[in-house]
Amino acid sequence: MGETVITARGLTKSFKGFKAVDGLDLTIERGMIYGFLGPNGSGKTTAMRMLTGLLTPSAGTAEVLGMSVPKDAEALKYHIGYMTQTFSLYGDLTVMENLKFMAEIYGLPRASQKGRISELLERYELTELAERFAGRMSGGQRQRLALAAAVLHEPKLLFLDEPTSAVDPESRRHFWEQLFDLCDAGTSIVVSTHFMDEAERCHRIAIMEAGQKRADGSPQQLMDAMGASVVELEGPTLREIRRRLPHVEGIVTAAQLGARLRVLVNKSIADPVAFLTSRSETEGATLIEQVRPNLEDVFVTSTGEGRQ
Ligand SMILES: Nc1ncnc2c1ncn2[C@@H]1O[C@H](COP(=O)(O)OP(=O)(O)OP(=O)(O)O)[C@@H](O)[C@H]1O
Ligand SMILES: [Mg+2]
Repeated sequence: MGETVITARGLTKSFKGFKAVDGLDLTIERGMIYGFLGPNGSGKTTAMRMLTGLLTPSAGTAEVLGMSVPKDAEALKYHIGYMTQTFSLYGDLTVMENLKFMAEIYGLPRASQKGRISELLERYELTELAERFAGRMSGGQRQRLALAAAVLHEPKLLFLDEPTSAVDPESRRHFWEQLFDLCDAGTSIVVSTHFMDEAERCHRIAIMEAGQKRADGSPQQLMDAMGASVVELEGPTLREIRRRLPHVEGIVTAAQLGARLRVLVNKSIADPVAFLTSRSETEGATLIEQVRPNLEDVFVTSTGEGRQ
């Protein structure tokens, strides 16, 4: 096992008796990109706010970079970066003014501020936008500014809360390349998302639902350990098959994807293709084949009604 940057045990946050985060156990190793994957309201932001020391847990403990939060939050602040879910820089300051302001807050020595800021402007393609008011930038430009601000003081650990929800797929790819560069340079990263493709890029993920961790591992481990096989069907009567299948014992879910029906079959059924072929409910199907699971299948089988 490598060095640990975050350890949480039983981390819990209640708001008037409602548990937004409920008994979260986490071990996050140095040098990895760790994702929280979960739907709206599953507790991702609340968990991050506790780990950054901004929010006091109702119960449980967390140690971040060897410091206990929230007790050591003030000291921790200089070693972590936090990109909040909503843009939290100043819209009526320019890109340059925002970065200078953040440099002051983090106590960067005056002599090195200028050099560090121009390095970041260059790296995140903001040089031409330096005099632009942050409030007048596009979603993608703002996101690059927010990342530049979060890494200004070269934090060892970076928290990114749904960093790419406001950007197009091309910018998202580019953003992830930059995260891998940061990771390569030794920064550990915790990122929240509700995008499956984004979660698949993480070294390790926690699947969150209703404040609880439902599964934890690398995307590949989670796919390998999944309690269901995935079978796809084609044919002219997919909607009918789709209606009949959920009533069959051993079927976890069935969902249409374009011209195919994707069916999750409980692992206890040894030959899922033969099983489905023999059932009258699949009558009319012209093709039934087993396919590789993806992270969405893992998500479906770890949460909600598909939970096993
Ligand atoms: N300050 C608060 N007071 C009361 N309830 C809160 C507070 N903050 C969060 N909650 C509730 O806790 C739950 C988890 O919220 P949280 O923001 O952590 O979810 P999330 O996974 O980040 O969701 P999203 O994907 O929408 O950002 C929600 O039901 C939310 O309404
Ligand atoms: Mg959130």
